[in-house]
Amino acid sequence: MLLAVSGTMAGDIEAGEVKAILCAACHGHNGISINNNWPNLAGQKEAYIVKQLKDFRDGRRSGEVMPETAQSLSDEDIEDLAAYYSSLDPNRH
Ligand code: HEC
Repeated sequence: MLLAVSGTMAGDIEAGEVKAILCAACHGHNGISINNNWPNLAGQKEAYIVKQLKDFRDGRRSGEVMPETAQSLSDEDIEDLAAYYSSLDPNRH
């Protein structure tokens, strides 16, 4: 694997892909969601995804479904998921 380490983050793209099975029902298999209520994640900045997931989990951001979904995620899960989604091409559906 390439050294895709930026700052203090060291998410594992392949581990994130496996964990993303939980998320694909809403955010799509390529990180492109199937409707306008669920945001696309493909190509989103890794640091942004990490922050949003921690904010949902730790109660700093509210939402319809994500606060509950994020409860089960560890910091490592979040970093792996962020690495995976940020690696996807937002133009490939
Ligand atoms: C049941 C549908 C559903 C599932 C499953 C789901 N999400 Fe979401 N996600 C949403 C919705 C809806 C939002 C918008 C915020 C809200 O309403 O909670 C969102 C928002 C987000 C955001 C913020 C996007 C932004 O641009 O700010 C991230 C990041 C995210 N989800 C990641 C995940 C990850 C990672 C998983 C799997 C662990 C996951 N989601 C599972 C529906 C879902």
